[in-house]
Amino acid sequence: MALLQELDTGTPIRTGEATVTLTIDGRKVSVPPGTSVMAAAALMDNPIPKLCATDSVEAFGSCRLCLVEIEGRKGTPASCTTPAEAGMIVRTKTTRLERLRRGVMELYISDHPLDCLTCSANNDCELQAQAGNVGLRDVRYGYAGANHLEAPTDASNPYFTFESSKCIVCSRCVRACEEVQGTFALTILGRGFDSKVGTGGVDFLSSECVSCGACVQACPTATLNEKLVIEKGTPERTVVTTCAYCGVGCSFKAELKGNEVLRMVPHKAGKANEGHSCVKGRFAYGYATHKDRVLKPMIRERIEDPWREVSWGDAIAYAANEFRRIQTKYGRDSVGAISSSRCTNEEVFLVQKMVRAGFGNNNIDTCARVCHSPTGFGLSKTYGTSAGTQDFKSVAKSDVVVVIGANPTDAHPVFGSRLKKRLRAGARLIIIDPRRIDLVKSPHIKADYHLALKPGTNVAVLNALAHVIVSEGLVDEAFVRDRCDLANFESWARFVADPRHSPEATAEASGIDPRELRAAARLYATGGNGAIYYGLGVTEHSQGSTSVMAIANLAMATGNIGREGVGVNPLRGQNNVQGSCDMGSFPHEFSGYRHVSTDAVRETFERMWGVPLSNEPGLRIPNMIDEAIEGSFKWLYVQGEDIAQSDPDTKHITAGLRAMECVVVQDLFLNETARYAHVFLPGASFLEKDGTFTNAERRINRVRKAIPPLAGMADWETTMALANAIGVPMSYTHPSEIMDEVAATTPTFKGVSYARLDELGSIQWPCNDTAPTGTPVMHVDRFVRGKGQFMLTEFVATEERVGPRFPLLLTTGRILSQYNVGAQTRRTASAAWHSEDVLEIHPFDADERGVRDGDLVALKSRTGEISLHAKITERVQPGIVYTTFHHAETGANVVTTDYSDWATNCPEYKVTAVQVRRTNHFSDWQVHDREEGVSLRRTEKALADAAE
Ligand code: SF4
Ligand code: SF4
Ligand code: SF4
Ligand code: FES
Repeated sequence: MALLQELDTGTPIRTGEATVTLTIDGRKVSVPPGTSVMAAAALMDNPIPKLCATDSVEAFGSCRLCLVEIEGRKGTPASCTTPAEAGMIVRTKTTRLERLRRGVMELYISDHPLDCLTCSANNDCELQAQAGNVGLRDVRYGYAGANHLEAPTDASNPYFTFESSKCIVCSRCVRACEEVQGTFALTILGRGFDSKVGTGGVDFLSSECVSCGACVQACPTATLNEKLVIEKGTPERTVVTTCAYCGVGCSFKAELKGNEVLRMVPHKAGKANEGHSCVKGRFAYGYATHKDRVLKPMIRERIEDPWREVSWGDAIAYAANEFRRIQTKYGRDSVGAISSSRCTNEEVFLVQKMVRAGFGNNNIDTCARVCHSPTGFGLSKTYGTSAGTQDFKSVAKSDVVVVIGANPTDAHPVFGSRLKKRLRAGARLIIIDPRRIDLVKSPHIKADYHLALKPGTNVAVLNALAHVIVSEGLVDEAFVRDRCDLANFESWARFVADPRHSPEATAEASGIDPRELRAAARLYATGGNGAIYYGLGVTEHSQGSTSVMAIANLAMATGNIGREGVGVNPLRGQNNVQGSCDMGSFPHEFSGYRHVSTDAVRETFERMWGVPLSNEPGLRIPNMIDEAIEGSFKWLYVQGEDIAQSDPDTKHITAGLRAMECVVVQDLFLNETARYAHVFLPGASFLEKDGTFTNAERRINRVRKAIPPLAGMADWETTMALANAIGVPMSYTHPSEIMDEVAATTPTFKGVSYARLDELGSIQWPCNDTAPTGTPVMHVDRFVRGKGQFMLTEFVATEERVGPRFPLLLTTGRILSQYNVGAQTRRTASAAWHSEDVLEIHPFDADERGVRDGDLVALKSRTGEISLHAKITERVQPGIVYTTFHHAETGANVVTTDYSDWATNCPEYKVTAVQVRRTNHFSDWQVHDREEGVSLRRTEKALADAAE
């Protein structure tokens, strides 16, 4: 339960026209069909006492507290399970009902510890509130008989406790785990008096529980409660803001006492998550106040020198002076910046403005370069805009879902739960992934097809799917004729129909059984609404852009675009990848994806900023590094991005950083990149600033300041100070003014303002005169580019090949409890679930190499070698190994290559030829790292910190 609880209607709100009119306590109310009497009463602000009902789960009807009288019906039915009917006359407050409710409540209280005054949920407990509501004053039955007061407490979960002596067995937690989260970790064991909540015979930490918090949220008592609330007391104030982890963009109420966040409660009104959360957003926010935060600006002349703490003014002046010295000496293009998809739209907009208006070049790039830049390219070519086509809610209308190169239950968990709900209700599922991700088979879900392709063959598989659709006459001809460029379609159809693209001809390359592939293609094309969701397993390849275009082709060919339930949906990695791309963070584009060479666009910004702008695209991140090594790129500002850890071929990146004369890093922590920096500017966490993030469904969500910036400056203020020192005048007093500038210069954002965001809650762009409240589904009547454009997508095998020296393929991904390079999550108690990156290897490959589960193994590629522990599992196929990249000390990117997408330079993280052998020592790179004091021991340190 949450402080300042939003209206809880007791049972889920039904949508639709309010056509059912009934009378409750003498007043008429109209509700949509299917609405319960309880919800109807709540909507007219006449709540009925309840315990086992809450509107996040379907009614259960077990507590009998919500009894009502209905004219013409016998007895006192439960209002939570009784649907409203036209003409019904309901009474909720008779003397008989009040007596019955007091009796029910008395039984509950007689087996409940009466320690309300010292209970962690005092004044924030539904049992306590309802006891007051029903007027219970005395409890006639004592504790003398059997009771549950000595029942044990399970404190194994790092974030919440299960104090079973306080459990009233209402089953709200069990239903939340099933219906909302879809994990089925909890059950009610036993019957009657002996019934209790079970976690599969083990404690919470060892159970199937994924710590999403849905049960904690649903619990009406203090049984399931956050540890921080137990320790620190009930929160006092609430600030609605947005999660800073993944691209789902969940809304939360940050609940605070003073300036300390005690819990993050998922916000029911948040349209991306509708009251749900995952472990990261819900619980793993402690990094924001971790003692590793650097709160003082620092400088040093040489990277071998120790850091010197200085004032903000001195740090900014040093960075600006170095900027001027270097640009004067080495020329206009010797300087650049990298912004971060973790920062707000307003912050990244300012960074690119500083570069274009102050540096006089377009040397601005973003970490989206290394994740979803192919999405921007591919969807722009085919549909005319660089964004996903749907809102998340759309999946509830899908009949067939294709998940390719994505692992939603780990990487986009709240969307994963939505998807699982739809799958449990009957939608069909096709998974295209080298690894057996959870969705292939989990409780009540089984994929119809799992096409376990070899890494690097996405395009071959997508072309083969298209081949079946075209050659078997499954194209939606009416859609194609009406909506797409016909000549272009015909040449694409001829291309994919060529026998070399058939499932049979591509089977050897892809490793997919042609019969399975044909069946999957037929299902997608003919199974009703077909939606495709994809992730970095599509984009992070040498043919990432080709794969995105091949996906877009499939959706057009089958008419699966332009309505709810269908579409092409990139699952964006970081919280603001969409936004940082929208805001003009690529070197060739202004905000709104408009090329720097377009005179009219440049003139708009020249008028606004009062300076001439360059029409030449600037340097991408890899070009900056290459030019640094060559000696022509010398000054870099990196805001909130750790390129030394997250970009491929670490040795090349660090060589580039070492070659620069001034590197300015702005971050929360001294990250790996900061080891090569000369100026360190403290960053601010999402809790410390105002702004907006844009999630994977193009939804602009407000980020609201919950506590003052710990280092004194929000990131937009730091960039503004640097820009002013460099000579770009900026005088914003609030991020809303930056958004006003975005709206004034960017047609797709024309209708966006903070006032409008506060009014609507959130807005999906485009938001302008034609779509004043935003656009949930794109390309409804026509594609943004006019006619949809089919692109030819020839499969070209990656140059990264297996051979005798490197016979295995390494692919990488994330796990639920950790996030990207782990800078945030490693500084939370989530280390309890994943304290190190391990190498998944198939039993066959392990056996061949004499590797046992848990052995230290050397993982060697053409670019480098690291060591990590092996985990033997059939999740990966023979010939494929897999690891995560959450721990700096693993150095996963030491082994990845510098091959990249042909169109966007997005690195090919997902395919590296490797060899694995047993070892008894860490690699040279890791030992060297340890000697520098940033050591392998950090894993243990994170655990110790978490335990503190
Ligand atoms: S935290 Fe989530 S997964 Fe765990 S038991 Fe509760 S609802 Fe289920
Ligand atoms: S733990 Fe809470 S939600 Fe679950 S049955 Fe007990 S009281 Fe109800
Ligand atoms: S799903 Fe993503 S946005 Fe939502 S709480 Fe989890 S990490 Fe945050
Ligand atoms: S709230 Fe209706 S029976 Fe419990």
